[in-house]
Amino acid sequence: MPAERLDKILAHHGFGTRKDVKRLCHKSLVSLNGKIVTDPATKVEIDSDSLEIDGEKIVLQRDLYIMLNKCKNVVCANKDGEHSTVFDLLDESLKHKFLGGDLHCMGRLDIDTEGLLILTTDGKLTHSLLSPKTHVPKTYAVGLRDSLTLEEKQKYCEIFKKGFWIDREQNEDGFECAPSELKWRGEDGKFGEDGDAEKLFLAAEKNSSGKADCLLTIFEGKFHQVKRMFSQVGNEVVYLKRIKMGGLCLDPAIELGSYRELTESEIEMLSEK
Ligand code: URA
Repeated sequence: MPAERLDKILAHHGFGTRKDVKRLCHKSLVSLNGKIVTDPATKVEIDSDSLEIDGEKIVLQRDLYIMLNKCKNVVCANKDGEHSTVFDLLDESLKHKFLGGDLHCMGRLDIDTEGLLILTTDGKLTHSLLSPKTHVPKTYAVGLRDSLTLEEKQKYCEIFKKGFWIDREQNEDGFECAPSELKWRGEDGKFGEDGDAEKLFLAAEKNSSGKADCLLTIFEGKFHQVKRMFSQVGNEVVYLKRIKMGGLCLDPAIELGSYRELTESEIEMLSEK
């Protein structure tokens, strides 16, 4: 990793403007690897140097990775004239510039979709995980308008497993939907012998404002994909919550509308297939 100027690093860690940082340096409040530094242009190695302000250690970070449990009625956009955005849910302390880049959503969820949303400054990771070639699995808990017989459920599974054509919607072209995996919740509220599905489903239920009938895993991310898949087979999605991306499950301890930073191993889990 290339070294960065001290004033740039501190400005990007919420210590005000570069001018403010210059003042901190001139007051001898900044120390690098145990030595006071007064030159704001001093180069700092983010991965190995140790920086303290007024005796307090600063955790140096190039990128930020946040797991948010998105609630309904907020949009995945930087600004919206009508609705609050997911960025409005963040603490003021996160509303500064980051060394790695701008904080952005790793993919979008619709305004009425809940669940796992990653916010990050790591544009490279976002690009690679959202690339159509990557096929990162995404699992959703889905509630449907129409209840179905066992035979109908079986039919949906067959259609989804094979892949099928999805019609054009608004200005979005139709497309050949890739094979996906559908698991139904039984009358007893369980997923048969499938313990993993059971656990995932419980994560969806926790703090949910709706009920799910099935779990759907897709390997692509087209516009309104899940809603269009069920609409194509004659049903309608009335509740949607993303609960897993790659190998990373939504932490059920995160309340709707709340978030926390990802651990290093969780960041790696995002790329698991
Ligand atoms: N599919 C949808 O239809 N909506 C979402 O928000 C996510 C996937």
